[in-house]
Amino acid sequence: MSDDADFDPAAYDDCQSFVVEYGRELLDVLDPRPGERILDLGCGTGHLTAEIDAAVGEAGAAIGIDASPAMVAEARETYPDREFARVDATAFEPTDPFDAVFSNAALHWIDDQNAALAAVADALRPGGRFVAELGTTGNVAAIVDAVRAEGRARGVQVEAPWHFPSLGDYATRLESHGFEVRLARVFERETTLDGPDGLESWLDQFGDDLLAAFDDPADAITAVEDRLRSTHYDSGAEEWTVTYRRLQFRAILSAESPYSSSQ
Ligand code: BEZ
Repeated sequence: MSDDADFDPAAYDDCQSFVVEYGRELLDVLDPRPGERILDLGCGTGHLTAEIDAAVGEAGAAIGIDASPAMVAEARETYPDREFARVDATAFEPTDPFDAVFSNAALHWIDDQNAALAAVADALRPGGRFVAELGTTGNVAAIVDAVRAEGRARGVQVEAPWHFPSLGDYATRLESHGFEVRLARVFERETTLDGPDGLESWLDQFGDDLLAAFDDPADAITAVEDRLRSTHYDSGAEEWTVTYRRLQFRAILSAESPYSSSQ
């Protein structure tokens, strides 16, 4: 997301709570153990960080980081006893190594993927694990395609701000940063947005950069709703559904990683 944009934490918790709910499935892949130090990269409003912190117990620690000042402020207010830092994932320099780095629905926001993976590798102890979920090829394609089509109709160029890599590309990238990919899968998740205004709230929350080229983004959102209503809106249930395509992985940092500073 652009530097001057920020998320609205209240709207995020109210309307995008599925992000955290689905993130709980990823906690099973993480399998946090008592005594571990775990970094939650892109922690948002901190709910999953708090769950990880509870799982690692007094002897361990979970630290949440996020680039959004508003999200970190909200996380600190909700969980005053837990540790959060406002820092860009590519610039994070921990004092002590982590046993695991966890990231749910955050990596696709990062422009410099190599810098992010180098920072993750540097944050982990050798043998530490990186467990993450992000959008993969075709993620939220219905929304992106409808916004692009509306852009073409109005003569504006739409740039999608997200990085949705294929499994093959990301596994190769992870390997080039010293990780061994032990588990990786792609799957589709039909995702119901929150109520009759769910698509509008989604675009309000996440679409600033996607809609940046439009003179009147609110009007563009209405037009995008019109484009998608017949295929993605259930008027009986009064809800929108879009296909999220996910890449989930668990990768282990090799002991000989050139990026690992903590042997
Ligand atoms: C996602 O979690 O896949 C996502 C969320 C917001 C914008 C784009 C993708």
